[in-house]
Amino acid sequence: MRLGDKTIDESRQGEALIVDSNGKGKKLFLESYGCAMNFSDSEIIASILAEDGYSTTKEEKEADLILINTCSIREKAEERVRNRLNSFKKYKRHNPSLVVGMLGCMAERLKDKLLEEEKLVDLVVGPDAYRDLPGLIQKVEAGQKSVNVLLSREETYAEISPVRLDNSGVTAFISIMRGCDNMCSFCVVPFTRGRERSRDPQSIVAEAQDLYNKGYREVTLLGQNVDSYKWNIDKKGVVKDENKPVVRFAELLEMVAKVNPKLRVRFSTSHPKDMIDDVLYTIAKYDNLCKYIHLPVQSGSSSMLKRMNRGYTREWYMDRISAIKRIIPDCELSTDIIAGFCGETEEEHKDTLSLLDEVGFIMAYHFKYSERPRTLAERKYEDDIPEDVKAARLTEIIAIQRKQAASRTKTHVGRVLKVLVEGPSKKNPEEYCGRTTHNSMVIFPKEHAEAGMYVNVKTHDCTTNTLLGTITTQEAEA
Ligand code: 5AD
Ligand code: SF4
Repeated sequence: MRLGDKTIDESRQGEALIVDSNGKGKKLFLESYGCAMNFSDSEIIASILAEDGYSTTKEEKEADLILINTCSIREKAEERVRNRLNSFKKYKRHNPSLVVGMLGCMAERLKDKLLEEEKLVDLVVGPDAYRDLPGLIQKVEAGQKSVNVLLSREETYAEISPVRLDNSGVTAFISIMRGCDNMCSFCVVPFTRGRERSRDPQSIVAEAQDLYNKGYREVTLLGQNVDSYKWNIDKKGVVKDENKPVVRFAELLEMVAKVNPKLRVRFSTSHPKDMIDDVLYTIAKYDNLCKYIHLPVQSGSSSMLKRMNRGYTREWYMDRISAIKRIIPDCELSTDIIAGFCGETEEEHKDTLSLLDEVGFIMAYHFKYSERPRTLAERKYEDDIPEDVKAARLTEIIAIQRKQAASRTKTHVGRVLKVLVEGPSKKNPEEYCGRTTHNSMVIFPKEHAEAGMYVNVKTHDCTTNTLLGTITTQEAEA
């Protein structure tokens, strides 16, 4: 995930986020790999350590403390982190009091190896133990190795006010839940992040309100499976306190939408098995709930979905797509696809291609299957699809998806769309960029636009993923 990224973009797993601010006292260099959730965690970590006197630096050379917030989702992500940790050895030679720590999803599995065997780090802290960081760092400073990888059933960091590391000041992430109970057979997350738990809705609304007051105009609610958000009700549907309201995801969305009509709300990630019509009706009801749903399908084949333990069939998924198109007609969709999962036949792969054609996603993130330790798939199935077949299938997926993305983007050409301005475009500072409710990036001549402002843009052209237009006084249709 890149500094300044405005949306959740799971395909950027492995890209680093480097924290930058100028402070005094002890200096922290913090780098994040992986998903938006990890990025959001880094904002909590920065907050906990700011209380402890640390300011952040983007110069790794001048750091007293280097922390890497790691990702385990695919083998490649782990390799990158290892290389990065190796590259810090040179600073240790010059500055023996430098503390290097590994945080996040790789912590539990690789603690012994990286701490004891390879001695690449002094400190290992799992995703539920960040409150312990100050004490753990002190232990290292006193000459001991320091580890806390315990997962919690309760920790949500609810009342910690994150330090906003994305310095755009327009968009921000809000974590609404942690962990995952789904047990998809390919996925390491339940092992790295533990059991699912939801955060107090009042603290979520307060955070959204505070962001709005500070000038932010878009929040993205984050969780591994947001449709399963629940407060004051347990998994079996038993209400915990009869005197308090039950809040599920639809109600939470409504509460955040009501913070201010000028605060756009996005969310990620939805799970097809849990996405109910109530959520869709709520999205349809509020203009500021963005008309864009990321609904990972993983495969278009029901037999494959069964092996993946996804809890739905192709038909169920297509029914959810029909419901979205019926209830929110002007809504764009994106998805995640895994190519070459265990035992994938040519026919199963073709089912994925046909699903991509049938749905028409404006965006898809696609990955070659990467076997992860401890997962159901590792224990039960053979990772038997040769690398070249995985790569060839991925190429076919990309080709179809590119065509679909271009055709979906084209449907927005000639429209007047409400755009939340994010700032100058990367290529030309005279041009500005921002996103539509459908999450499409729009580029337009600056005129009076400023970051954080809404402007109506008439679009006249597009590339595969980007719209080009000019600011207009005409009223926006979406
Ligand atoms: N191999 C490849 N891709 C994976 N994903 C999750 N686990 C794996 C794995 N073992 C993908 C899924 C998920 C996204 C975040 O990463 O598509 O939705
Ligand atoms: Fe995020 Fe999953 Fe990677 Fe952890 S393993 S950082 S939860 S994508």
